[in-house]
Amino acid sequence: MAGLTSSTIGRKYAMALSAMFLLIFLVMHLSVNLLSVFGQDAYNNASQFMGYNPLIQFLMQPVLMFAVIFHFVMGFVLEIKNNKARPVGYNVNNGSANSTWMSRNMLISGAVILAFIFLHMYDFWVHEMNYKYIDGLPVEETRFWGDLHAKFADLWRVVLYVISFILLGLHLAHGFQSSFQSIGARHPKYTPVIKAFGNWYSILIPLGFIFIAIFHYVTQ
Ligand code: HEM
Repeated sequence: MAGLTSSTIGRKYAMALSAMFLLIFLVMHLSVNLLSVFGQDAYNNASQFMGYNPLIQFLMQPVLMFAVIFHFVMGFVLEIKNNKARPVGYNVNNGSANSTWMSRNMLISGAVILAFIFLHMYDFWVHEMNYKYIDGLPVEETRFWGDLHAKFADLWRVVLYVISFILLGLHLAHGFQSSFQSIGARHPKYTPVIKAFGNWYSILIPLGFIFIAIFHYVTQ
C-alpha cells in the first residue's frame, strides 16, 4: 500500500482502484434502494438481510468506509500535486479547448458529493440511530421502509439530494473512463466501448437515485 501511494503513478492507480470499488458499490446501493419503490416487503427483507449479515456489517461496511475516505483524501493530494507541477493555469493554457468542465472540476463535484455523504450519514446513521442494528434492540423487521419513506417527506432534503445526484453524474461522467485510463486499460477497440458505457452509467445511476427520492416525496 505504501509503495502504491508513494509515486504519482501509484497514487493514480490506487485512486482508480478505489473509484472502481465505489462504482460497484453505487450499482448495489441503487439496486437495494430501488426495491423500496417496488414493494415494502422486498426492501424490508433486503435491509434486514444486509443489516444483520456479519460479512456485510463487519467486512464490507468498514472496507466501504475506508474506500470513501481514501478516495477523497487521495483526490485532494493528487489535485494539490498536479497544481504544483503545472506551471501555467488552465485559463492561460486555454483549458476549455483541451478538456471538459467535468474533468477540470472533479474537486468541486467531489466536494459536493462529500458534503452530501455527511448529510446522508446524519440522516441514516446519526439522526436515525435505530435505523442501524444496535445490540439489544428488539428486531423490527418492518421499520426500514417506513424510516426511508419518512426521510423524503421534506422538500428541502429532496432538493439537496437531487442537486447532489446531478453533481454525482458529472463526477462519474469523467471519473468512469478516467479510472480505466489510470490503470492503463487503453485499447483502440475497447476504449470507445468503455467511454460509451461510462456515459450511460453516469446518466442512469444518478437518474435512478433521483427517481427514488422523488417517488418517496410524491407518494407521502
Ligand atoms: C435516493 C437515494 C439514496 C437512498 C434512498 C439511500 C439510502 C441509504 C440508506 C437507507 C443507508 C443506510 C444503510 C444502513 O443501514 O447501513 C445508506 C447508507 C449509505 N449511502 Fe445511501 N442512499 C441513497 C443515495 C446514495 C448515494 C448517491 C451515495 C453515494 C454517493 C450513497 C452513499 C451511501 C453510503 C457510503 C452509505 C453508508 C454505507 C452503508 O451503510 O451501506 N447513498 N443509504
